[in-house]
Amino acid sequence: MAFVYKHGEFCCGDLPLTTIAEACGTPTFVYDFDAIRRQVQALQQSLSELSPLIAFAVKSNANLTLLRFLANLGCGFDIVSGGEFYRVLQAGGEANRVVFPGVGKRRDEIRDAVDQGVLMLAVESGEELAAVAEVAKQLKKKAAISLRINPEIDAKTHPYLATSLRESKFGVAHTEGLQLFKQAADSPHLEVVGMSVHIGTQVFTEQPFVELCNFCKDYHERLKANGVVLRYLDIGGGLGIAHKAEDETVTPQRYGEIISQYLGELDLQLIIEPGRSVVGNAGVLLSSVLYRKQNFDKRFVVLDASMGELIRPSLYGAYHEILPLKEKRAALSPADWVGPICESADFLAKARPSPEVAQGEQVALLSAGAYGFVMASNYCGRPRPAEVAVMDGKWYLIRKRESYEDLIRGEEIVDLPIN
Ligand code: LLP
Repeated sequence: MAFVYKHGEFCCGDLPLTTIAEACGTPTFVYDFDAIRRQVQALQQSLSELSPLIAFAVKSNANLTLLRFLANLGCGFDIVSGGEFYRVLQAGGEANRVVFPGVGKRRDEIRDAVDQGVLMLAVESGEELAAVAEVAKQLKKKAAISLRINPEIDAKTHPYLATSLRESKFGVAHTEGLQLFKQAADSPHLEVVGMSVHIGTQVFTEQPFVELCNFCKDYHERLKANGVVLRYLDIGGGLGIAHKAEDETVTPQRYGEIISQYLGELDLQLIIEPGRSVVGNAGVLLSSVLYRKQNFDKRFVVLDASMGELIRPSLYGAYHEILPLKEKRAALSPADWVGPICESADFLAKARPSPEVAQGEQVALLSAGAYGFVMASNYCGRPRPAEVAVMDGKWYLIRKRESYEDLIRGEEIVDLPIN
């Protein structure tokens, strides 16, 4: 765990988080960059036999300092939009280490990606294939592509987080893939270099990864038998992380063993797209208690953080541990932890056994490094929070808290006649 109590203070490494909460205010995201490096190195080590390209899933955390740090650690990037591509390039990432899946790429996004020479666009439909070929033709370039195949594997995760069920919108049905691969190979404007898959996210068990490896091996054989020769196999991300002490997950070490065991013999360069497993447990969201109240028989703690900063409890029923920054050994009683937003869906924890907390007391919401800030919104006129990096006991502000001016940037007041 990147965050632990030391001498009664909840710390990142040796740094008490109250230091950051006092200096930057709350709500604020804090990331432990030593832990992030350890996670990347654990993946690099566990897969060292295959030396994969680790294409970090930018959607999980797109902070520029983080992207720069990961690029320096040797990572590439998995992007799903022109906006993420822009961020990667701004951070100093190289286009030829970028993979670009996504079911709805716009032509301008395809054009930029082909023009800058991304490693491959993962094409997700027949119509998109035609669009990429057309754009490449206009640019007088050959577009490097993979096809994203839906292998029809149940990742046994939350329904919103599964991506390769029969009813999922992602990728091309495995039953159609071969025909589309052949079609792509025939295009003078396309260079078919890879196959991409991604079964879902927050995957807790080994079985779906084993099924995925078996699927990839068989499919690759079939492609080869049909004259389709590939260079890359991109198996996506998905490795789950523990949100509670008792959660059992597939460790990076075990993941590496499985992948190496099943895909070790393959004559393809492996690509993985981890997001959550790299940054999820390396981040917390600091918040302060605004008010406590009892409504009928229910105890509420009102925080200055909300679904606006961490939407995961509302959207997926996700469990995020909430710990006071000053350790306490008090009796626990159930409380709903809620934010200031005018929605009953605005909660961070429900009926959670909790200690008494004081007004103004600071707390940390754990496992908030992935799909935290990136999913934050300005709903209800809330500036998005600050982001802080910690390394070697020092902290750095890597994103200022938004201001009220930021909230209205780009708007024009047009004085429309009232009659
Ligand atoms: N590759 C592709 C094609 C993906 O769609 C995703 C995640 C990843 C890689 C990274 O997966 P990871 O290693 O992070 O599990 N907002 C949700 C998560 C949505 C993930 C979407 N795709 C959440 O808060 O749980």
